[in-house]
Amino acid sequence: MDVLARRKLVSERFAERFGRQPLVWSQAPGRVDLMGSHTDYNLGYVLTQAIDRNTWIAARPRNDGKVSIQSLNLEGRAEFTLDQIEHDTAVPWTDYVRGVAAILRQQGYPLVGFDGLIHSTIPFGSGLSSSAALEMATAVLFRALGDLEIDPVQMALLCQRAENEFVGMNCGILDQYSSAMGRAGSVLLLDCRDLSSKTKPLAGGIQVVVCDTRAQRELTGSEYPERRAQCEEGVRILANFYPGIQALRDLSIEQLEFHKATLPGMVYRRCRFIIEENQRVLDMADALTAGGRDQISVLAAASYAGARDLYEISCEEMELMMAAMLSAPGVIGARQAGAGFGGCMVAFVEQGQVEAFAWHVGERYQASSGIEPHAYPVSAAPGAGPLSW
Ligand code: GLA
Repeated sequence: MDVLARRKLVSERFAERFGRQPLVWSQAPGRVDLMGSHTDYNLGYVLTQAIDRNTWIAARPRNDGKVSIQSLNLEGRAEFTLDQIEHDTAVPWTDYVRGVAAILRQQGYPLVGFDGLIHSTIPFGSGLSSSAALEMATAVLFRALGDLEIDPVQMALLCQRAENEFVGMNCGILDQYSSAMGRAGSVLLLDCRDLSSKTKPLAGGIQVVVCDTRAQRELTGSEYPERRAQCEEGVRILANFYPGIQALRDLSIEQLEFHKATLPGMVYRRCRFIIEENQRVLDMADALTAGGRDQISVLAAASYAGARDLYEISCEEMELMMAAMLSAPGVIGARQAGAGFGGCMVAFVEQGQVEAFAWHVGERYQASSGIEPHAYPVSAAPGAGPLSW
């Protein structure tokens, strides 16, 4: 759907539901990581980009201190008072909106309520940060309505807090930062320690393709916090030998290997993956800028192997998707993306062969897994902000 058709659809639905036209619009993109799985909460690097799939909120301010929200993609609606923000067990997706409002309030920002209609082109629960995009679109809206002074990195941090403290998901900064700071046409080399980023151009002829396994993620919800805790345990033990360290970012492979015997096997494997993955981010940033096909292929393969064998965040469908991607025409490299355990993966593909690549992945993956995948090219998009017409 083109932008004008989308705007018309959202305006019409808004008028049906709220009786008038929307006045203020915000947008926030999803993201895909090109290298750097789980390195963010280890204060390392990530090579990431905002994608041309995003969440819009069309809104109209209210003067009674209430927020009323609905979505064109998800069931349910909610209305809440900004003075008393509670969780919504009946319509849990509204917690992302509530959480951002709650954290902004807690920080002392004066908030203006609104009627809002959400429309998203980011598939939900597939690892492209639909939640962070909803949080960021909400924050941008509150900023516009209240004329608040918050810069994009601060907004990302506040939205991360909303997710950590209100929603209860202990995520790192990657998703919110990518959505806040995306640049059209560039990938970002993000340093999660000082929250700075460098923009890197992707070499000509290389296309990023998202390959969604559409696997039902059977997570108990404990996998992600468990991985974090294992990394922290590694840091705790190794700090006995290297007192200055604060995160796995501060350790080299040589230091880890030297003290391998002091670590429980699983903790060692987790640490090894993170330390190697962190270096791969820097190497991949160079390779993607220079267009070094061989290096991209080797780095992506090593990232996936580590995610599967050391960090153990792969699953059968991801294995089948890897086989489909790697046997497809035009493939340069492929790896896991997002948190893992199903969801989206990412491939680097020769631009002229994207269609043939996507067709092959569709056929091969469906034949082996019985699931119809979604494979589509994405381009680097601008970060969250107001939409003006
Ligand atoms: C999820 C989290 C991010 C990051 C990735 C893995 O997307 O929200 O903070 O940890 O997983 O890299």
